[in-house]
Amino acid sequence: MISVIDGVRLHPQYLSLQQQRQLLEVARKVIRDAPLFVPTMPKTGKKMSVRMTNCGSLGWVTDKQQGYRYQPVHPDTGENWPKIPPVLVDIWQDLARYSKPAEACLINFYNDTAKMGLHQDQDEKNLEAPVVSLSLGNDCLFRIGGTKRGEPSKSLRLRSGDALVLEGPARLIYHGVDRIYPNTSRLLKKGGRINFTLRRVNE
Ligand code: SIN
Ligand code: MN
Repeated sequence: MISVIDGVRLHPQYLSLQQQRQLLEVARKVIRDAPLFVPTMPKTGKKMSVRMTNCGSLGWVTDKQQGYRYQPVHPDTGENWPKIPPVLVDIWQDLARYSKPAEACLINFYNDTAKMGLHQDQDEKNLEAPVVSLSLGNDCLFRIGGTKRGEPSKSLRLRSGDALVLEGPARLIYHGVDRIYPNTSRLLKKGGRINFTLRRVNE
Protein backbone atom coordinates (compact mmCIF):
# COMPACT_ATOMS: atom_id res chain seq x y z
CA MET A 1 0.00 0.00 0.00
CA ILE A 2 1.23 3.49 -0.87
CA SER A 3 -0.03 6.58 0.91
CA VAL A 4 0.04 9.05 -1.99
CA ILE A 5 -0.94 11.94 0.27
CA ASP A 6 -2.67 11.91 3.65
CA GLY A 7 -6.01 10.16 2.96
CA VAL A 8 -5.19 8.75 -0.48
CA ARG A 9 -4.35 5.05 -0.32
CA LEU A 10 -3.12 3.33 -3.46
CA HIS A 11 -3.16 -0.46 -3.41
CA PRO A 12 -1.19 -1.41 -6.54
CA GLN A 13 -2.34 -4.71 -8.07
CA TYR A 14 -4.98 -5.22 -5.37
CA LEU A 15 -6.92 -7.44 -7.79
CA SER A 16 -5.41 -10.63 -9.18
CA LEU A 17 -5.84 -11.27 -12.90
CA GLN A 18 -8.56 -13.76 -12.02
CA GLN A 19 -10.40 -11.15 -9.95
CA GLN A 20 -10.02 -8.62 -12.76
CA ARG A 21 -11.65 -11.09 -15.15
CA GLN A 22 -14.38 -11.74 -12.60
CA LEU A 23 -15.08 -8.00 -12.29
CA LEU A 24 -15.15 -7.64 -16.05
CA GLU A 25 -17.86 -10.31 -16.07
CA VAL A 26 -19.68 -8.37 -13.32
CA ALA A 27 -19.57 -5.21 -15.47
CA ARG A 28 -20.94 -7.11 -18.47
CA LYS A 29 -23.79 -8.55 -16.39
CA VAL A 30 -24.71 -5.18 -14.92
CA ILE A 31 -24.83 -3.66 -18.42
CA ARG A 32 -27.20 -6.37 -19.58
CA ASP A 33 -29.75 -5.25 -16.95
CA ALA A 34 -28.77 -1.60 -16.75
CA PRO A 35 -27.48 -0.45 -20.15
CA LEU A 36 -24.75 2.17 -20.36
CA PHE A 37 -26.13 5.69 -20.49
CA VAL A 38 -24.50 8.88 -21.71
CA PRO A 39 -24.19 11.32 -18.81
CA THR A 40 -24.66 15.02 -19.59
CA MET A 41 -23.47 18.04 -17.66
CA PRO A 42 -25.87 20.07 -15.54
CA LYS A 43 -27.13 23.27 -17.21
CA THR A 44 -25.06 22.98 -20.43
CA GLY A 45 -26.24 19.49 -21.32
CA LYS A 46 -22.82 18.78 -22.77
CA LYS A 47 -22.12 15.06 -23.12
CA MET A 48 -19.41 13.56 -20.95
CA SER A 49 -16.93 11.34 -22.79
CA VAL A 50 -17.42 8.36 -20.47
CA ARG A 51 -20.45 6.10 -20.52
CA MET A 52 -21.89 4.94 -17.23
CA THR A 53 -24.06 2.51 -15.38
CA ASN A 54 -24.52 1.56 -11.74
CA CYS A 55 -25.35 -1.23 -9.39
CA GLY A 56 -26.61 -0.82 -5.84
CA SER A 57 -29.70 0.54 -4.09
CA LEU A 58 -28.69 3.95 -5.47
CA GLY A 59 -26.87 4.99 -8.61
CA TRP A 60 -25.13 8.23 -9.53
CA VAL A 61 -26.57 9.99 -12.58
CA THR A 62 -26.43 13.42 -14.20
CA ASP A 63 -28.37 15.26 -16.87
CA LYS A 64 -29.03 18.79 -18.05
CA GLN A 65 -32.29 19.33 -16.18
CA GLN A 66 -31.67 17.77 -12.77
CA GLY A 67 -27.88 17.73 -12.50
CA TYR A 68 -25.76 15.45 -10.34
CA ARG A 69 -27.70 13.15 -8.04
CA TYR A 70 -28.29 9.65 -6.71
CA GLN A 71 -31.44 7.79 -7.61
CA PRO A 72 -32.73 4.23 -7.20
CA VAL A 73 -33.60 3.78 -10.87
CA HIS A 74 -31.87 3.85 -14.26
CA PRO A 75 -32.48 7.19 -16.02
CA ASP A 76 -33.52 5.57 -19.33
CA THR A 77 -35.25 2.33 -18.33
CA GLY A 78 -36.77 3.48 -15.03
CA GLU A 79 -35.82 0.08 -13.55
CA ASN A 80 -34.07 -0.39 -10.22
CA TRP A 81 -30.30 -0.81 -10.51
CA PRO A 82 -29.02 -4.40 -10.17
CA LYS A 83 -27.72 -5.40 -6.72
CA ILE A 84 -24.06 -4.93 -5.81
CA PRO A 85 -22.62 -8.45 -6.33
CA PRO A 86 -20.94 -10.25 -3.38
CA VAL A 87 -17.42 -9.83 -4.81
CA LEU A 88 -17.79 -6.03 -4.62
CA VAL A 89 -19.45 -6.19 -1.20
CA ASP A 90 -16.36 -8.04 0.03
CA ILE A 91 -13.94 -5.58 -1.56
CA TRP A 92 -15.77 -2.66 0.10
CA GLN A 93 -15.55 -4.42 3.47
CA ASP A 94 -11.86 -5.04 3.03
CA LEU A 95 -10.82 -1.63 1.72
CA ALA A 96 -13.32 0.85 3.18
CA ARG A 97 -13.07 -0.44 6.76
CA TYR A 98 -16.42 1.24 7.34
CA SER A 99 -19.26 0.01 9.54
CA LYS A 100 -21.99 0.22 6.89
CA PRO A 101 -22.23 -1.34 3.43
CA ALA A 102 -21.76 0.57 0.18
CA GLU A 103 -25.02 1.71 -1.39
CA ALA A 104 -23.79 2.75 -4.83
CA CYS A 105 -21.32 1.38 -7.32
CA LEU A 106 -20.81 3.62 -10.32
CA ILE A 107 -19.25 1.89 -13.32
CA ASN A 108 -17.49 4.22 -15.77
CA PHE A 109 -16.49 3.09 -19.27
CA TYR A 110 -13.69 5.04 -20.92
CA ASN A 111 -12.74 4.50 -24.53
CA ASP A 112 -9.10 5.31 -25.26
CA THR A 113 -9.89 8.99 -25.91
CA ALA A 114 -12.24 9.55 -22.96
CA LYS A 115 -11.33 11.57 -19.89
CA MET A 116 -12.92 13.02 -16.80
CA GLY A 117 -12.44 16.59 -15.65
CA LEU A 118 -11.30 17.51 -12.15
CA HIS A 119 -14.20 17.28 -9.71
CA GLN A 120 -15.03 16.47 -6.11
CA ASP A 121 -17.25 13.56 -5.03
CA GLN A 122 -19.66 15.56 -2.92
CA ASP A 123 -23.15 14.36 -3.81
CA GLU A 124 -23.14 11.92 -0.89
CA LYS A 125 -24.82 12.88 2.39
CA ASN A 126 -22.22 10.73 4.06
CA LEU A 127 -18.75 12.21 3.80
CA GLU A 128 -17.37 10.06 6.63
CA ALA A 129 -17.25 6.92 4.53
CA PRO A 130 -14.40 6.58 2.05
CA VAL A 131 -14.67 6.33 -1.72
CA VAL A 132 -13.23 3.08 -3.06
CA SER A 133 -12.22 2.92 -6.71
CA LEU A 134 -11.03 -0.02 -8.83
CA SER A 135 -9.38 0.11 -12.24
CA LEU A 136 -9.61 -2.39 -15.11
CA GLY A 137 -8.12 -2.29 -18.58
CA ASN A 138 -5.77 0.30 -19.99
CA ASP A 139 -3.68 2.51 -17.70
CA CYS A 140 -4.83 6.04 -17.01
CA LEU A 141 -3.20 9.24 -15.86
CA PHE A 142 -5.09 10.10 -12.69
CA ARG A 143 -4.79 13.58 -11.24
CA ILE A 144 -5.34 14.56 -7.63
CA GLY A 145 -5.46 18.14 -6.42
CA GLY A 146 -6.33 19.67 -3.10
CA THR A 147 -9.70 20.24 -1.50
CA LYS A 148 -9.97 23.65 -3.19
CA ARG A 149 -9.97 24.24 -6.92
CA GLY A 150 -6.66 25.54 -8.25
CA GLU A 151 -4.48 24.00 -5.55
CA PRO A 152 -1.36 22.20 -6.83
CA SER A 153 -2.01 18.74 -8.19
CA LYS A 154 -0.03 15.59 -8.70
CA SER A 155 -0.50 12.78 -11.17
CA LEU A 156 -0.30 9.06 -10.78
CA ARG A 157 -0.72 6.22 -13.19
CA LEU A 158 -3.52 3.78 -12.36
CA ARG A 159 -3.19 0.29 -13.81
CA SER A 160 -5.54 -2.63 -14.27
CA GLY A 161 -6.09 -4.21 -10.85
CA ASP A 162 -5.15 -1.14 -8.81
CA ALA A 163 -7.41 0.07 -6.00
CA LEU A 164 -7.52 3.66 -4.80
CA VAL A 165 -9.19 4.86 -1.61
CA LEU A 166 -10.06 8.49 -0.82
CA GLU A 167 -10.80 9.04 2.83
CA GLY A 168 -10.55 11.38 5.81
CA PRO A 169 -8.62 14.55 4.88
CA ALA A 170 -8.70 13.55 1.19
CA ARG A 171 -12.36 12.56 0.95
CA LEU A 172 -13.19 15.81 -0.83
CA ILE A 173 -10.09 16.32 -2.96
CA TYR A 174 -10.41 17.25 -6.60
CA HIS A 175 -9.58 14.36 -8.90
CA GLY A 176 -9.95 13.42 -12.52
CA VAL A 177 -8.67 11.31 -15.39
CA ASP A 178 -6.44 13.26 -17.80
CA ARG A 179 -5.90 10.50 -20.31
CA ILE A 180 -5.99 6.80 -21.08
CA TYR A 181 -2.87 5.05 -22.38
CA PRO A 182 -3.93 2.79 -25.29
CA ASN A 183 -2.56 -0.77 -25.52
CA THR A 184 -1.27 -0.93 -21.96
CA SER A 185 -3.50 -3.85 -20.90
CA ARG A 186 -4.92 -6.89 -22.66
CA LEU A 187 -7.85 -7.35 -20.31
CA LEU A 188 -10.37 -5.50 -22.50
CA LYS A 189 -10.36 -6.82 -26.05
CA LYS A 190 -11.41 -3.49 -27.54
CA GLY A 191 -9.15 -1.37 -25.32
CA GLY A 192 -10.35 1.38 -23.02
CA ARG A 193 -10.72 1.38 -19.26
CA ILE A 194 -13.39 0.49 -16.73
CA ASN A 195 -13.60 2.10 -13.30
CA PHE A 196 -15.79 0.94 -10.42
CA THR A 197 -16.46 3.48 -7.67
CA LEU A 198 -18.08 2.22 -4.47
CA ARG A 199 -19.70 4.72 -2.15
CA ARG A 200 -21.86 5.05 0.92
CA VAL A 201 -24.48 7.71 0.16
CA ASN A 202 -26.59 7.99 3.32
CA GLU A 203 -25.48 8.31 6.94
C1 SIN B 1 -14.65 9.17 -10.95
O1 SIN B 1 -14.08 10.01 -10.26
O2 SIN B 1 -15.88 9.08 -11.03
C2 SIN B 1 -13.87 8.21 -11.79
C3 SIN B 1 -12.47 8.01 -11.37
C4 SIN B 1 -11.75 7.03 -12.24
O3 SIN B 1 -12.20 6.76 -13.36
O4 SIN B 1 -10.69 6.53 -11.83
MN1 MN C 1 -15.03 11.12 -8.69
